[in-house]
Amino acid sequence: MIRKARIQDVKAIHSLLMHREEHDGLVLPRSFSQLYSHLRDFFVAVDDDGAVIGCCALNIIWENLAEIRSLVVVSKHRGKRLGRKLVEACLSEAVTLGIFKVYTLTEQTGFFAHLEFVQEEMDALNQKVFADCLNCPRFPDHCNEVAMVMVL
Ligand SMILES: CC(C)(COP(=O)(O)OP(=O)(O)OC[C@H]1O[C@@H](n2cnc3c(N)ncnc32)[C@H](O)[C@@H]1OP(=O)(O)O)[C@@H](O)C(=O)NCCC(=O)NCCS
Repeated sequence: MIRKARIQDVKAIHSLLMHREEHDGLVLPRSFSQLYSHLRDFFVAVDDDGAVIGCCALNIIWENLAEIRSLVVVSKHRGKRLGRKLVEACLSEAVTLGIFKVYTLTEQTGFFAHLEFVQEEMDALNQKVFADCLNCPRFPDHCNEVAMVMVL
């Protein structure tokens, strides 16, 4: 099941994002402080026992731009369309908010292309995106991410 995250989910989300073996370093870790203040951005996937087995966040950037970030599905639950459903929940929320352009910075180009995102030059995105890159520990030499965009 996919649902909005709750305060009780924060430790599980933090654990997902911190465990490099779950995502091979393809998502950035986030601090508890960031997770608490951005909790309303998050959707989680939960199993039948209510355990968090995936997460994804929609971060509003500007009046017509939002970012999908912090997408992880635990390895033993991959291939069950949970990643797709988490992304679709974020896209649906973007439409509800009146935001019709969503991007992600990713090395998972095959997955996002399959979900009909298209590659875009970073320069075409809002300057705030680049400002976030400046603060990223991987910038500039250790970043292999590509901007992929969905216009809704
Ligand atoms: C990327 C990730 C979230 C995908 O989660 P998942 O639940 O296994 O993916 P899904 O089962 O929802 O896949 C959805 C669709 O994408 C397809 N797909 C999955 N990975 C793909 C890939 N690398 N290339 C092309 N298609 C892919 C699936 O076949 C499926 O197709 P369908 O819905 O038409 O049947 C998961 O592999 C993961 O957590 N990876 C590590 C962290 C990561 O890379 N996060 C992204 C950072 S931006």
